[in-house]
Amino acid sequence: MDGVQVATRFIPTEECDADIRLKESLIHAAKDDIAIVKSPVGMPGRAIMNPFMQHVMAGEKIPHSPCHRCLAKCSPGEIPYCITDKLIAAVKGDVENGLLFCGAKAYMADKIETVHDVIADLFGTEPECI
Ligand SMILES: Cc1cc2nc3c(=O)[nH]c(=O)nc-3n(C[C@H](O)[C@H](O)[C@H](O)COP(=O)(O)O)c2cc1C
Repeated sequence: MDGVQVATRFIPTEECDADIRLKESLIHAAKDDIAIVKSPVGMPGRAIMNPFMQHVMAGEKIPHSPCHRCLAKCSPGEIPYCITDKLIAAVKGDVENGLLFCGAKAYMADKIETVHDVIADLFGTEPECI
């Protein structure tokens, strides 16, 4: 069986329930806006640079809410920021202070599409049953 894991491409869709400001951050991002960043538990990821990520990269520790117990390896007293708090902030549209997690090619999205159109584009054909 073949499969793919697709994340970023589905954020700037009409069906995605994220705030329009997060969708717009993605469709306006340029290649140079996307940096490799460290998650609070040290794993690498990519994000669109914003004031929040500049503070983190400068070594600041961002205060956070009580632990959501989302990552077994996370030590709430030591982390530079809480990934759950910051992903939720981004989904709610706080694109200055949220974590704008994305894939390497996020800058290629240039408009808000429907999931139907994204699937058709990915597969090069009209989807049969969505
Ligand atoms: C909003 C968002 C949340 C993500 N959360 C996770 C996660 O919890 N665990 C994980 O392993 N990867 C996570 N990823 C990374 C994706 O699984 C994927 O590896 C990455 O975004 C690259 O694929 P893409 O170009 O299709 O986005 C997340 C990505 C995004 C955009």
